[in-house]
Amino acid sequence: MPRLLVVYHSQSGASARLAAAARGGAEATDGITVTLCRAWDAGSQDILAVDGLLLVAAENSGGLSGGMKDFLDRTFYPVGERERVLPCALLLSAGNDGRGAVRQAQRILSGFPMREAVEPVVCRGPVTPDLEARARELGAGFAAGLEMGIF
Ligand SMILES: Cc1cc2nc3c(=O)[nH]c(=O)nc-3n(C[C@H](O)[C@H](O)[C@H](O)COP(=O)(O)O)c2cc1C
Repeated sequence: MPRLLVVYHSQSGASARLAAAARGGAEATDGITVTLCRAWDAGSQDILAVDGLLLVAAENSGGLSGGMKDFLDRTFYPVGERERVLPCALLLSAGNDGRGAVRQAQRILSGFPMREAVEPVVCRGPVTPDLEARARELGAGFAAGLEMGIF
């Protein structure tokens, strides 16, 4: 059964809520195992054990949040040795922009054996039911693609 890991970093709880919604969407897909983990608690072994990775974080000061960047910095070398290219996806929370976080995340990920399987989703402003629905949709779509083996 394909395994999806959702890793999130959140200071005020916005990305945490989006990550939980994305996990809910993914778990609604049959035939996939979903794990949710804080970036501070996750490491390279967690990435090496799964078939898909969803990263959820905020834009901070025009870039990717420090906690998520720390996670990617810590895992760079061990995950770089992985031969299989891992499908990944980005879900970002931002006050009113988010473009800098997307750019930085994509630039960092281009150094990993990872490929963005779906378009990044940026959720601007406070988390609303509509934004949670978008996050759920992203989780469900990513999980369905993994389950069907199309990524
Ligand atoms: C230190 C700091 C810097 C921020 N910089 C940006 C920014 O550059 N662009 C933006 O759109 N929002 C910015 N924000 C707003 C956050 O991205 C937004 O509040 C987000 O929902 C926080 O998510 P979190 O609670 O998961 O950390 C910043 C917030 C903080 C605390």
